[in-house]
Amino acid sequence: MKVLSGIQPTGRPHWGNYFGAIRQYIELQHEQQAFYFIANLHALTTIRDGEELKQNSLNTAMDLLALGLDPDHAVLFVQSDVPEISELCWLLMSGTPMGLLERCVSYKDKVSKGLSAGTGLFTYPVLQAADILAYDSDTVPVGEDQTQHIEVCRDIAKSFNNAFQEEVFVLPKAKVLDASAKVPGTDGDKMSKSYGNFIEVFEPVKPMRKKIMRIATDSRPMEDSKDPETDHLYQLYSLFAEPSDCREMAELYRKGGFGYGDVKKKLADAAEAYFAEARARRAELEAQPDRVLQILGDGAAVARVKAGEVLLRAQKACGLK
Ligand code: ADP
Ligand code: TRP
Repeated sequence: MKVLSGIQPTGRPHWGNYFGAIRQYIELQHEQQAFYFIANLHALTTIRDGEELKQNSLNTAMDLLALGLDPDHAVLFVQSDVPEISELCWLLMSGTPMGLLERCVSYKDKVSKGLSAGTGLFTYPVLQAADILAYDSDTVPVGEDQTQHIEVCRDIAKSFNNAFQEEVFVLPKAKVLDASAKVPGTDGDKMSKSYGNFIEVFEPVKPMRKKIMRIATDSRPMEDSKDPETDHLYQLYSLFAEPSDCREMAELYRKGGFGYGDVKKKLADAAEAYFAEARARRAELEAQPDRVLQILGDGAAVARVKAGEVLLRAQKACGLK
């Protein structure tokens, strides 16, 4: 499998991002090809502060490396360090029908709310198609919300191949992330940056424990038997705890006679232990930003070679070379 995915540098990862996406990306790093990049060009459509974008991009790289992305297996780079992408984007854009992009949800949603959308948001899926096609990727791990963009990418690639009568581009497929990995937030709804119910992976231990102790719970009496599978506190605990500890906890739920405070304390201990190694690695990386920049530079060099080959194929097919 030739795997590729992009991660927007829009903030620090929370537990939902980790279990729902990052962990699954990292598991694919031993495939024949694994390219992961920080989508700073895409983030330009929302972040309009240079210093913030730069800092976010470096933070995202450190987060991924600390969480186990291994540069000896996967190529990690920053999107804008591969200028071939922007050029390929133009070649793709010149044959992309407006209608295809008008149907894309992120653009449509904004317009339907009466907000004015920039051309960056409108053409966002074409840039994403360039990202994917430039490395001959065949597998794109993404959340359910991004599958439309992969379909658009396939349409664009097919119509380019048809127009110029050549198999210039490989047609990629989405690998939809495990939807059962939906992580509840501190209020029991889906954890999300936009709901303010999240706990960050690298949140310092003390505030993290405080947030856990404040997780909303129901007011049923302690002695009642409870169903662990429908309880968000149990769901969170089961992300971090060993299977044998989960079974024990589930048993306790069914028996009743326990307090949510004890479960929260166990969750805090398990979460702290689970991310302890990543936290230590994160601190090490933070102390050596040059090492991180070196990893990103090396990654970009590898990515540029591949993107250059594909761009040349496309340029030749359409008569630019
Ligand atoms: P947010 O909702 O916090 O803005 P994003 O939309 O930036 O999160 O999500 C980035 C990735 O993390 C997506 O692939 C998404 O599927 C995954 N993700 C986000 N929140 C959760 C969650 N609560 N449970 C599982 N996966 C999640
Ligand atoms: N649009 C993706 C998101 O918001 C990020 C992204 C950019 C991406 N380019 C990509 C994902 C290429 C997969 C492949 O999550």
